[in-house]
Parts: sequence; C-alpha cells; structure tokens
Amino acid sequence: MPNAPSPASDGRASSNRTGEDGEALALDRAVPTSLDDIRAPVEADLDAFRSYFREAMRSDHMLLDKITQYVLWQKGKRIRPILVLLSAQACGGTAADTTHRAAALVELLHTATLVHDDVVDDAEERRGVFSINALWKNKIAVLLGDFLLSRGLLLSLDHNDYSILHTLSNAVRRMSEGELLQIEKARLLDIDEETYFRIISDKTASLISACTKSGAVSVTDDEALVERMDQFGETLGLAFQIRDDLFDFSVEDAGKPIGIDLQEKKMTLPLIVSLREAGRREQKRILKIVDQDEKDHDDLRTIAAFVDEHGGIEHARRKMESLAAEARSLLSGLPPSEARASLVGLTRFAIQRSR
Ligand code: IPE
Ligand code: IPE
Ligand code: MG
Ligand code: MG
Repeated sequence: MPNAPSPASDGRASSNRTGEDGEALALDRAVPTSLDDIRAPVEADLDAFRSYFREAMRSDHMLLDKITQYVLWQKGKRIRPILVLLSAQACGGTAADTTHRAAALVELLHTATLVHDDVVDDAEERRGVFSINALWKNKIAVLLGDFLLSRGLLLSLDHNDYSILHTLSNAVRRMSEGELLQIEKARLLDIDEETYFRIISDKTASLISACTKSGAVSVTDDEALVERMDQFGETLGLAFQIRDDLFDFSVEDAGKPIGIDLQEKKMTLPLIVSLREAGRREQKRILKIVDQDEKDHDDLRTIAAFVDEHGGIEHARRKMESLAAEARSLLSGLPPSEARASLVGLTRFAIQRSR
C-alpha cells in the first residue's frame, strides 16, 4: 500500500483522516469482504491452528470420540481463531506456536460455551444441524462442554502459556456471569439498554476481545498496542452480538432457530428500545406476551410487528453500524498491512453476515 499515510506516531487515530462515520479513509483500500478472502493472510497459520484443535479434541473414549467427530464435522465460521491470527500479524508479528495454541484454545472454549449455551437455551439446532443436546441429550452436552474446556486448559498449561491462559480464563468467567445476568433479567423482565450492553459485553465481547488481545500479546510487548487491540475486540464483539440478536427477528435461516430468544424471555436491543418508546398500556400488553411460558406463532408475530413499528430494528442496526465504525477507527492506529485490511473486512462481515 504505497500511498497509505503512516499511522499516527503517538499510536492514536488522528481525526483528520477520519470520515463522517468515524471511519479512517486510509483503511478503505482493498478491503476483503468474504470470509475466504478475509482469512487469506493467515491461511498457513490456520493449518497449524487446525492441528492443535484436532489433537485437543481427540479422545480414546468411544462415545466422546464419536461426538467430537460430529463437532469437527459441523462447520463453525472459526471467526475467533482467525481474529487471533490476524491480530498477531497486524501487530507486526509472525505468528508463533503460542499464537497457534491461543487460536486453538479460544475455539475450544467457544465450542464448549456453545454446547452449554444450547442446553441453557434449549436450542435444537446449531450451525445448520442438530445441536449436541438434541442428538445426545443434555447430560452428554454438559459433559462434552467440560471435556472441551479441560482440553483447552491443558493445551495452555502443557506449554506454559500462562499469560494467554490468564486472559482467556477471565473471559470465561465473564461469559458465565453474562449468561447468568441474562437469565436473571429474563426472569424479572426489567432489562434496560445499559444492562443489555453489560450482558453482551460479558457473554460475547469478552471472548472476542480476548482473541484480539492474546493475538497481540503473543507477538508484542507494546502495552498501548495490546490495549488498543483489546478495545478493538470489545467494540467488534458488541456489534457482532447485536447482529446475532437481530437474527432472532429475521425471516432468513441463520442455521439456528429463530424466535428462540423471545421464547426464552430473553429481551434484546430491538425489543428493549421499542418498549421504551411505547406507551404504558402497550408496554404491559407486550410484556404479558413475553412473559408467557409458551408463545405460539401469532404471539411471536405480534411482538415482531410491535418492534418493527417502534423502530427497534432500525435503532439496533444503527447502533451496530456505529460500533463497527468505532472498531474500524481503532485500527487506523496500526501500520497498514494485509492483515489490517482483513480486520477491517471483519468489522463489515460481523454486521453483514447471514450466519
Ligand atoms: C455464535 O458465535 C455465538 C455468539 C456469540 C453470537 P459464532 O457466530 O461465531 O458461531 P460459530 O462458531 O460460527 O458457529
Ligand atoms: C451466545 O449466546 C453464546 C455465548 C456467548 C455463550 P446466544 O444464546 O445469544 O447465542 P446463540 O444465538 O445461541 O448463538
Ligand atoms: Mg444463550
Ligand atoms: Mg443460544
């Protein structure tokens, strides 16, 4: 990128290069949009990631091995390992073995939490196929999640990757707290926007920021840079989860059940802001439906229409877009590189993705 301006020397994004939406213009060049193109700069590193990931999944126990084969066959997007590897490269480093293991660790932890999440949410579908709990029942899914978690911890401990293990363990703690706060709020139905952001920061952005941070930590000692990558992951993670929450209101197939958040009394941003806009009586009418243990098709349609009418979808979209732009502007403090362009691409992919 010969004509790209050099990054601000103090490491901060300089505002005169920033467009109206807070996006650095210099970042616009040759930004990949498909996941295939986004991961191209780290294709070789992904091979190393895969071999750690597969090895950690292996078990001599017959039933376990059968289930982990099924998990490996399910196609996850592998966003988190890609983020670890791209972050390391964008911070000027060549990915080390530690980076590859960090990538495997995050995907193991992510997989474990999804397996548990589907038990918690009573979801029968994941990645377009049956969830583990749907195929093998809850007991097995809980135990598989524990197995994956322990394999992740062992992978790091066996190689003395303490710093990364520390970052990731903190994320796992926050994920559990976020999920618990979400359950608590679903019971009381009294969630506001601030609480919503706390929940999604804990349950989703914590792991995504751990990815970008540990990628950086594995190649640099520059604390300001690590902090910037941490912040980038946090902001991207919030946008990523808002996109996920919008799936629940959509009509397209995202490879997981739709309307399930509402079924579980989980109130997300589109509904929260719509309720805030509505009058008292209407609030009561909608909350009564949300509070029903069983909701039929008409109930879900009523809520969806209410949200649409009060601009909840639009509001959530705008918030998500501004977070993605904020994430992009954090990247303008990094030197231009193919990996940085891919990270910019990911901020777009995170909010435009269809699964
Ligand atoms: C799903 O994450 C869970 C959320 C935090 C929204 P992904 O959409 O990255 O899931 P997979 O790994 O690609 O299935
Ligand atoms: C995401 O929670 C899973 C975690 C962050 C632990 P959700 O319940 O919102 O995600 P999906 O929709 O099942 O993937
Ligand atoms: Mg959940
Ligand atoms: Mg879920």
